[in-house]
Amino acid sequence: MARRMVAGNWKMNMVADSAKELVRSLSVADAPCGVDIVLFPPLIWLRELMSEAGDGGLYFGGQDCHEADFGAFTGDISARMLSVAGCSHVIVGHSERRKFHGEGDARVLAKARAALEHGLIPIVCIGESLENRERGETFEHLGRQLDAGLVPLGDDLTRVIVAYEPLWAIGTGRTATPEQAQEVHEFLRGRLHAAAPDQDVQDFPILYGGSVKPANAAFLMEQPDIDGFLVGGASLEFESFWAIIKAAGVDG
Ligand code: 13P
Repeated sequence: MARRMVAGNWKMNMVADSAKELVRSLSVADAPCGVDIVLFPPLIWLRELMSEAGDGGLYFGGQDCHEADFGAFTGDISARMLSVAGCSHVIVGHSERRKFHGEGDARVLAKARAALEHGLIPIVCIGESLENRERGETFEHLGRQLDAGLVPLGDDLTRVIVAYEPLWAIGTGRTATPEQAQEVHEFLRGRLHAAAPDQDVQDFPILYGGSVKPANAAFLMEQPDIDGFLVGGASLEFESFWAIIKAAGVDG
């Protein structure tokens, strides 16, 4: 993809004042050109944060969505609601949703479809466990997640962002090496292109996530198939998040 992206998944962190402070700093800082910055805050702060951001060039999204527009789904928010609230993106299939809420690939696909239907860009997360990797089953596992959760989208795959987040790297401080990440991203790009062969092979944006830090961002970004980052812990403070955003800039 021509543009790069750095997304901050705040998960269930931050209260209003610190969130506003961070958004204020990000909205006035001079972002490197060609890098989109997307924030995924707890939704309860969304409106305040959007007004704090003003026209500072930030995008906002939901950390998850329900595939139905409305209904008796206590605690859920629909893709349609996110869209009406001004979100541009939504994360679906994050490993924490898969693990703690029992969401499988069919559900992830339904959520991605709902997001697209309402004009949101879904960021679809996939990734292997440490056990998968140690058994040499990384590509088999990712292939299954792709086949069930993404491939059925066909040509719409260019409207989706895939985030490769190896489970063993999330919140552990153990990042995939640039070579490990590149090997997977190249595999994913090939499989996505095979599912939508009429599209340009570069038109499938693929982010890396899992312990991205200022110290490793530039090395990861040098890899040809890494188009940006989905950042957890390091997106909660301006200095670390900004250093990652700078590293994602074309000039590094
Ligand atoms: P960390 O950057 O804290 O490892 O989290 C990654 C992640 O899960 C982003 O969605």
